[in-house]
Amino acid sequence: MTYLHTHEGAAKPHTHEGSAIPHTHDQIPQPSMDEAGHEHPSQLHRTRHASDAHPLMSFRDFCFAYDEEATLRHIDLDVYAGDSVVLMGCNGSGKSTLLKAMSGLVFAQRGEYLFDGERVEERSMKDPTFAKRLHARVGFIFQDSDSQLFCSNVEEEIAFGPRQMGLPEAEVARRVDDVCALLDIEKLRARAPYRLSGGEKKRVAIACILSMNPDVYCFDEPLNGLDIKTRDWLYGFLQKLRASGKTLIIATHDQSLADALADYFVYMGEHHQYSDLPHVHINR
Ligand SMILES: Nc1ncnc2c1ncn2[C@@H]1O[C@H](COP(=O)(O)OP(=O)(O)OP(=O)(O)O)[C@@H](O)[C@H]1O
Ligand SMILES: [Mg+2]
Repeated sequence: MTYLHTHEGAAKPHTHEGSAIPHTHDQIPQPSMDEAGHEHPSQLHRTRHASDAHPLMSFRDFCFAYDEEATLRHIDLDVYAGDSVVLMGCNGSGKSTLLKAMSGLVFAQRGEYLFDGERVEERSMKDPTFAKRLHARVGFIFQDSDSQLFCSNVEEEIAFGPRQMGLPEAEVARRVDDVCALLDIEKLRARAPYRLSGGEKKRVAIACILSMNPDVYCFDEPLNGLDIKTRDWLYGFLQKLRASGKTLIIATHDQSLADALADYFVYMGEHHQYSDLPHVHINR
């Protein structure tokens, strides 16, 4: 299918979220090395990528707080194009917040985040061209599909992103047809998104992102609330995205999904007992 390859142009965010609440620096502890001596991300990548490869997403000393308490602490992380990264960590450890940062929905209050060499910050995201480009290249499938769906019917919902990218109506229609067929949601086209079941909403939410053909897919707890058949389908779909060279960032508590998809794990905060695949610890 055509949406598993090149990226074209730019789109508005499919949803909006953000916070400009400043944090207090002295409440953010300094980073400490993992007592088990796990590799730093930059060391890990040295063995996985050509020495002259540039990270697609690069976090340097990235700190963020919604309020007084720091949520993301001194994050140093490089993700390269084509990586399949699984984010793990306990509830409240900051996985969803890190995905939001990757998607330009929250910003560094200290440190920086570069996407493809460009600094993503509140100021740059106020430039509509820059913001559209980032949102076209980084697709975010929310943990809660209701946060993502807002149009009056499914067809309009899926067309929203491609229209924001400025694609001609014929191309928008072609993409809507294609993703509806691919995700088996043709019978939902005229339905109101808010009246769909949880699994149906998830498929529509994925269709909305897929129709924009981003380079990076950020999935937040993609299996939540899905029945076995839909989970199996999503496993296969994620495998196809990965095989097509897309960059995947998946936050999940599901170890079997993590095992199936991870090139490496990124653990938020907590120590873990798992060592079969490369892993890094951040946000400690
Ligand atoms: N909009 C917000 N305003 C204030 N605090 C928030 C907001 N969103 C998240 N938080 C807080 O930030 C912290 C990190 O939340 P986040 O949702 O990133 O965690 P998570 O690792 O995704 O958790 P889970 O596994 O439960 O999904 C939590 O303490 C949470 O209460
Ligand atoms: Mg979360």
